[in-house]
Amino acid sequence: MSDTSNPIQKIETRLQAITWEAPGIHSFELRRPDGGALPVFTAGAHIDLYLGNGMVRSYSLVNAQGETHRYIVGVNRDVASRGGSRYLHDTLKVGDSLTISAPRNNFPLNESAPHSVFIAGGIGVTPMYCMVQRMAALKASWQLFYSSRTPQHAAYREGIEALGKAAGQQVVFNYDQVPGGKMLDLKALIAGMAPSAHLYCCGPLPMLAAFEEACKGRAEETVHVEYFSAREAAATGGGFNVVLARSGKKVFVAEGKTILDALLDAGENAPFSCMEGVCGSCETKVVSGTPDHRDMILTDSERKAGKTMMICCSGSKSAELVLDL
Ligand code: FES
Repeated sequence: MSDTSNPIQKIETRLQAITWEAPGIHSFELRRPDGGALPVFTAGAHIDLYLGNGMVRSYSLVNAQGETHRYIVGVNRDVASRGGSRYLHDTLKVGDSLTISAPRNNFPLNESAPHSVFIAGGIGVTPMYCMVQRMAALKASWQLFYSSRTPQHAAYREGIEALGKAAGQQVVFNYDQVPGGKMLDLKALIAGMAPSAHLYCCGPLPMLAAFEEACKGRAEETVHVEYFSAREAAATGGGFNVVLARSGKKVFVAEGKTILDALLDAGENAPFSCMEGVCGSCETKVVSGTPDHRDMILTDSERKAGKTMMICCSGSKSAELVLDL
């Protein structure tokens, strides 16, 4: 769960550099045009990019926690792109201006864990690279398992390899599309991890599903997952009222609409970014009522507690939902 009390802070940046990292993957380095400091961030944080085509996309920060002169995001030019990664790769040029959000962190590190295990698949390595840099700076005990198609497809491979060597920690690369290559056996891998170890996973949906399955039975607070895309469809059944606690205004959510759709249609100002339950920008406190959670951020305990919800994708199980808006 992230901080729901702050509206989204927007920052004007300039695209300082674009770097080729692997086939289809570029790093985009952003700085303030005046050279000033950017807000501090913690490992695992992401920023939203407000693209010139009207889209908003969230990307994890790759660079080291503590850097405030720049943000770096790694972006895969997704062949199934809805326009976000394509715009970044095909339209943006060095020197262009770009509005971004301040960093938010839905995937924080537990820095006091006795041992941490990071499992990355493909472009899911981006938050992990930032996290292992932090772990190395803390001289903590960690391992990274990084799966990609081939060595050439493993973005940031050289930097990660060097970091593991310098820190004296294990980095294992797994290539599943080389002769004899196999998918990582997450079940076997996780079965061998101490119960006190904290496990982190970011990658494609099948990998995340296998990870969550393999982590069943482990303490919830030791299992950390970051989704890049929605696993569940948004709740659009409608047929309930949302009451805005601060003004008392009542908004009916009709069938086919999300809560966010209904609020925007009613002229209300609500924060949002990804609109698919993965970024946390729309997290809203629930005063009363029972949310029908569909996001990829809240843990099972947080869902059961029902204190906050993502209004871009979650609905209501009760006839009325009172929100702190
Ligand atoms: S807008 Fe991203 S989680 Fe709702």
